[in-house]
Amino acid sequence: MKVQKACLAAAAAVLMPLSAVAQDAGIGETLYNQYCATCHGLDGAGEGPLTQIMVDKPSDLRLLSANNPQVAGEFPMLHVIHVIDGRTGLRAHGGPMPTYGDIFMSEETGDRETYGAVLATRGRVLSLAMYLESIQN
Ligand code: HEC
Repeated sequence: MKVQKACLAAAAAVLMPLSAVAQDAGIGETLYNQYCATCHGLDGAGEGPLTQIMVDKPSDLRLLSANNPQVAGEFPMLHVIHVIDGRTGLRAHGGPMPTYGDIFMSEETGDRETYGAVLATRGRVLSLAMYLESIQN
């Protein structure tokens, strides 16, 4: 499991340039293309290039509202924030997806937890969640 995770991280790093497309349509979309499209696909359908070597395939992110088990049709904002951040909620103990809360924090600070870095990290996670809300079917 550990080895598989390390391989995915390495492959993700190599595939990053996929991201350079569509820079100007909002922070969330830019972040999505940069960090998420390798697995989830540029359109969110789950056909990113990395899925060819993945065991647990990502689901269609355009159906998050439609498939919401709590309130059908409503965007599960808190769930999505938890999944992306990864440091809290049900995925805090591991899963196939990188934990972006940690990644964004260390990009901001090199691991020093300043107030500004905490805000910037939350802002990025929220921008991503709001972008996903905007692409729901
Ligand atoms: C290394 C591949 C990979 C990357 C990169 C990745 N994800 Fe995921 N993601 C997955 C997989 C696999 C799942 C399905 C398994 C799971 O839910 O943990 C998933 C699940 C999700 C879910 C939950 C879907 C549901 O039905 O509950 C959301 C939301 C999500 N990802 C958003 C993102 C966002 C936003 C990014 C970028 C910041 C991202 N992912 C980057 C692999 C990835």
